[in-house]
Parts: sequence; C-alpha cells; structure tokens
Amino acid sequence: MSTAAKGLEGIVAAETVLSFIDGERGILEYAGIAINDLAKDSNFEEVSFLMLNGRLPNKPEFDAFLADLRGAYTISDHTIGLLRSIPATAQPMHMLRTMVSALALEDPNPNSIDIPEVRAKAIRILAKVPTIVAGFDRLRRGLDLIAPDQNLTFAANFLYMLNGEKPTATMERAFDACMILHADHGLNASTFTARVITSTLSDIYSAITGAVGALRGPLHGGANEGVMVMLNEIENVSEAEQFVMNKLAAKDRIMGFGHRVYKSYDPRATYLKTLAEQLANDTGNADLYAKSHAIEKTMDREVASKGIYPNVDFYSATTYHSIGLKLDLFTPMFALSRIAGWAGHALEQLDGNRLIRPKADYVGPHEKPYVAIEQR
Ligand code: CMC
Repeated sequence: MSTAAKGLEGIVAAETVLSFIDGERGILEYAGIAINDLAKDSNFEEVSFLMLNGRLPNKPEFDAFLADLRGAYTISDHTIGLLRSIPATAQPMHMLRTMVSALALEDPNPNSIDIPEVRAKAIRILAKVPTIVAGFDRLRRGLDLIAPDQNLTFAANFLYMLNGEKPTATMERAFDACMILHADHGLNASTFTARVITSTLSDIYSAITGAVGALRGPLHGGANEGVMVMLNEIENVSEAEQFVMNKLAAKDRIMGFGHRVYKSYDPRATYLKTLAEQLANDTGNADLYAKSHAIEKTMDREVASKGIYPNVDFYSATTYHSIGLKLDLFTPMFALSRIAGWAGHALEQLDGNRLIRPKADYVGPHEKPYVAIEQR
C-alpha cells in the first residue's frame, strides 16, 4: 500500500519568512504584512525588495534598490538579437522560458551561489523580463522596440514599453497592485520547482527558467488565460449560468476557481474583484465583469460548500483585459511579478541548503525474469 501523498498535499517541505497563508480564514501576508495593506499602500518595487531580503527596505536601501533595478531595465544587443530570431507565432510563455534561460549566456559568472551575487542577478532578471516581454509583443506586431525609461516605475515602464505611451495613473496603480498580489504564494508549484532546482546548487537562471515552465500549466498560472477564453466563449451574461451548469455536469473545471490551500475566498481575489469592477466600468468592459460576476454567483450556489471559491486568476483576467493586455500575455504578467517570489525562495533555499530529494513508493512487480526482445 503506497504512502505517497498525491500532489504532496499537506506536506511541509520548506521554511519561509516570505509569505504566510491561512487557507481556512483567507489570509495572505508577506513577511507578516496583510496582502491588502501592501496592495493598497505599497508598490511592487518595495515588495520585490521584501522578497529578496525578507523585510521592507528603509529609505536609503530602497533608493539603492531602485537604482539597481532601473539601471538594469535595458537588454543587451545580444538579447535583442535573440528576441528578433523568435518566430512571431511563438507563444509568449515559451518565448519567456527561452529568454530567461538565454540571459545566463551573457553573464560571465552565471553559476555563482554566493547569496549577495545571486540577489544581484535576481534583480537584473526581474528588471529585464518586462523589457523582453514588451519587446517580443511589439516585434510580433511588426512595431519598433521601445527603450525602457529609467524614470518610470516597474509598472509604468512595462506598459510604456508595450504601448508606446505612458499609462494613466489609474492604469499604473492597477497594474502595480496586480504585480504586488502575484509576487509570492508559499510553496506553490512553480516556487517549489525553483527551490528544487536551487537545492542542487544549480544557478538562478535555471531555477527561474524551470519555474516559468511550471507556471505555464493551466492548473497554475495558465488559469488566467483559461478564464479569459471562458469569458470569450460566453456571448452574453444571460448565458453564464447555463455555461457553468453544463461544465459542472460534464465534470469540467471552471478556470479561476478552487485552490489547494484556500478553502475560503482567496484574499487576492477579494482585492482584484473590486479592482476589476472599477476598471471594467472605466474602460467599457462592464459586460466582462458582469459575466464574471454571474459565473461566480452560480459557482457560489453550486460548489462553495465544497470550499471552491474564486482564486487570484479569476478576476485578474478581467483586470488585465481592462488594462488592455492581450490574452496570451496574461500568464507572462504572472511571471513578471512571481520572479520576485521565486528568487526570494531560491535565496532562502541557498541559505542553509540541503538537496531536496524525496522518495517514490515503488508499486511495480519484483523478481521478474529478463525476457529477450525477440520473445516479448
Ligand atoms: N471547477 C470545478 N470543480 C473543481 C474546481 C474547479 N475549478 N476545482 C476543484 N474542483 C473540485 C474537483 O472536481 C474535486 O471534486 P470531487 O471531490 O467531487 O472530485 C474537488 O473540487 C477537489 O479538487 P482537486 O483537483 O482534488 O483539488 P486540488 O487541490 O488538487 O486542485 C486546483 C487545486 C487549483 C488545481 C483546482 O482547484 C483547479 O483545477 N482549479 C482550476 C484551475 C485554476 O484556477 N488554477 C489556478 C490556481 S490559483 C493560482 C495559481 O496557483 O496559479
């Protein structure tokens, strides 16, 4: 009889000071600070410092961090050349996985496991990935690249490089809040991936590349794109209830609902729901929000008793759409932010590292004779 915990449910595999989740009470904190307070009052740069250092910065530390981050927004000609060589038809998450890996090629010392050096590399990756994603999107649209603007925040700079114009303060703030909300979430699948890779004393580029691959899956970060696909399939709000009922009857999953840890409302979804409604109303997407709301109402009636509620991906779809992002950039947006969390966990793993190496229960036969291939 196997003792394997399917999906490693309930297994504690690491210690962290970065995020705390109480799935029963719907609480998420970064370094002890409630996620709602951070989303409301902080900014993604501060949260990134927190992820890489386990605490918020003081003013001089923050200024130095901003200078390092903004000073690394630019990508090299080599990286631009690689970006130009990627087919315009490539999916952005595949592009991103490849390009994060490629950043190692121009690092003269990519394998360092010295903690301050790894932290500095993480800042550079965090700074360059928005330039890469925006650059890829512009190239595939046949547009010129837009150089980053070091005077802009992480959020504003990304939207500027993507659209060619500076975002409104409302859009900048909304995107910044999304970045804050996605930065870390305990030992989720992609973060675990990053920690496993780091535990072999491999490099930060490998850890983040692997994590991007894990994030892409539809059960993880890919769900936000799945939500948008679903919203597009539902032609108008009056069809939302029947759509959900048909899916549930067919035992299909409704993307953006359910969570391994939360058995109550995901606090990130609480924040995003309000944001999504405001932005949708401001940008002529009220219909999209109405459809989301109708889906939630039906899900609440049908499956909330099983602890299935909206997760972070559900209302982030309406939010990203209202910000003007294309559907296939939704999961890369998750990655833009989560790089901070992945790198923070990689640093925690390095500090007092022990190889992560669980066991598998062998459930096959024993003592079978070897049969030559001709006789099989
Ligand atoms: N729609 C319908 N039923 C669901 C859903 C859903 N979205 N999620 C879970 N269930 C049901 C599932 O069918 C099962 O029912 P039963 O016990 O009757 O067979 C029960 O809930 C438990 O499901 P599970 O698959 O054992 O739960 P899990 O902890 O392994 O899965 C999950 C968690 C997130 C993979 C799952 O809820 C899911 O597939 N959700 C949809 C995809 C999604 O939104 N993913 C984003 C997660 S949050 C952001 C992130 O981490 O990236």
